[in-house]
Amino acid sequence: MPPDVIRDPEEMLARCESRRRNGEQVAFVPSMGSLHQGHLSLVEIANRAADVTVVSIFVNPTQFGPNEDLEKYPRDLEADVKKLSSHRVDAVFSPSPKAMYPDGFDTEITVGGLTETLCGPHRPGHFNGVATVVTKLLNIIGPCKAVFGRKDFQQLKVIEKLVRDLNLPVEIVSGPTVREPDGLAMSSRNAYLSAEERHRALSLSKGLRAARVLFENGERGAVRLLEAVKNEVVAAADSVDYIDIANPKTLVSLSEKDLVKETVLVAVAARVGSTRLIDNVVLGEDTAP
Ligand code: PAF
Repeated sequence: MPPDVIRDPEEMLARCESRRRNGEQVAFVPSMGSLHQGHLSLVEIANRAADVTVVSIFVNPTQFGPNEDLEKYPRDLEADVKKLSSHRVDAVFSPSPKAMYPDGFDTEITVGGLTETLCGPHRPGHFNGVATVVTKLLNIIGPCKAVFGRKDFQQLKVIEKLVRDLNLPVEIVSGPTVREPDGLAMSSRNAYLSAEERHRALSLSKGLRAARVLFENGERGAVRLLEAVKNEVVAAADSVDYIDIANPKTLVSLSEKDLVKETVLVAVAARVGSTRLIDNVVLGEDTAP
């Protein structure tokens, strides 16, 4: 059965409230559409976590920088709704930009600290856009379990902090990165890659896998672990925003002399052709790539 598509924020909230009044729990999967297996795995997590699953599909303009891909970001609501039809999804919330940002809208949420590293400096304003739209979406859905993927690890941490800092009545649940059989992390932006670029894009997961194998063989030096990623990515990508090794809780980079204690985040952002790709692994926790 195809899910109902709801455009109006008030109608969406009323639907969720009525389900909660019946004693049902709501799970929420926010997305920008162009759904792939990664999103569908989050829907399955939502299905297991609660009685009612709502998926939002909204390409949020405020999280794109002036020279980013807002205009060309793939949008196909009909195809997305079809993909969700074979899953248990009660409603798709797909508002217009005007419904989310009516004339006179002038409020922004800033999450400090965690947004100052990794993607933060490379995408000024991005996390303010994400934090603002996610706050709005969580208010429109109301108390729920909200499911986010670990591929956007920094986004996940920022949203966990947002929910804590603002006492939002929401439990954040995370889902693992879903990969193609050859290791490429699934992303809506992979659709931009030519066959040749896709081949070079594999360097991100290959580099992270090399770091994981080194770690599993006992390497704990931050520099050596980073080198394994750099060896793959620098040669294959057209440009690199960062290849970093950081504390997975604070997202603060380790210094060159540091040794990894228990777990550590290794994260990369690079451009292949004109496509900006990100990937990460938490060593000591993730079993892939
Ligand atoms: O991860 C995404 O798809 C987006 O950043 C999100 C969380 C839906 C906010 O627009």
